[in-house]
Amino acid sequence: MRIAVCLTDNKPAPWVEGLQRLLPRATVAAWEPGAPPADHAVVWAPPQAFLDAQPQLRGLFNIGAGVDALLKLRLPPDALVVRLDDAGMSVQMAEFVCHAVIRHFRELDAYGQDSAQGRWGFRRPRSRSDFPVGVMGLGVLGQRVARSLGAFEFPVRGWSRTRRELPGMECFAGAEQFDAFLAGTRVLVNLLPLTPETENILDRETLGRLLPGGYLVNVARGAHLVEEDLLALLDAGHLAGAALDVFRTEPLPSDHPFWRHPKITVTPHTSARTLRDESVAQIARKIEALERGESIAGVVDRVRGY
Ligand code: NAP
Ligand code: GLV
Repeated sequence: MRIAVCLTDNKPAPWVEGLQRLLPRATVAAWEPGAPPADHAVVWAPPQAFLDAQPQLRGLFNIGAGVDALLKLRLPPDALVVRLDDAGMSVQMAEFVCHAVIRHFRELDAYGQDSAQGRWGFRRPRSRSDFPVGVMGLGVLGQRVARSLGAFEFPVRGWSRTRRELPGMECFAGAEQFDAFLAGTRVLVNLLPLTPETENILDRETLGRLLPGGYLVNVARGAHLVEEDLLALLDAGHLAGAALDVFRTEPLPSDHPFWRHPKITVTPHTSARTLRDESVAQIARKIEALERGESIAGVVDRVRGY
């Protein structure tokens, strides 16, 4: 069995070594043009030439949770496309989002400014019940985030494509319940996959339906957000702020207005990083399972787009 590793912006050697250690009977190699076709591939943003050279691929393993970029390429028709299934990401996402929500709720930026000026001053405690948090996307990451926010006793609401029943939160589903979901939400957390249905979903209409003084945490994909609509709603005062981890253009250009906006916090697509050891172990287990003819979790539905 041949396994090819083809990673853009990532050194392949540690992935090759890790997979080879766990799958000693396989031949694992970093892909180069002219290499023999592989049975399984481990990829991030592979060139089209790599995919075109893989007529017999059985498993195409993406080393991230989101497959939006991969699905834009011409893929071997019979290969299963497999996303990372948590692999240490959900705890990172939970800590990142809880931090962003709590930082806003507890006015920690304002306390930071006081501290910088040597000022000892209190703000009136806010009521958690005034800060319902709505989580868009109740998949692997969204559910973990929603549960973690619930542990801090924020009222949590969730929205997904198909109906979910999750303890401790009010669940909404589908386009028909989107407005009701938004209308009771003050802090909106985006954990949707990027698909044709969800692109530009964070626009003036959506964000304008949040409770006044709304706050946006976008940790999914930059193309979910219509940037000028966010800026307009912040400047109009309908939104209080935004924590943005993902952008239409990454790295975010140095002259982009988000960098200097006083109500926007920018982080460089770092909310849930791919952890190599966990990912290698998960992919190796799944390759073994596929070779035994078993089904695996994390297979992407190419038509649905996630
Ligand atoms: P997932 O397990 O595939 O879950 C996706 C969720 O979104 C599901 O609940 C799904 O509904 C819902 N959904 C999809 N399309 C929808 C629609 N049109 N309307 C309403 N709900 C819809 O994905 P995940 O692992 O949680 O990851 C989510 C995204 O996070 C990834 O796709 C990626 O873009 C992003 N991400 C970002 C980072 C980062 O560092 N910033 C790291 C990892 C991932 P159903 O439950 O009904 O299927
Ligand atoms: C990162 O953004 C991922 O999709 O894993």
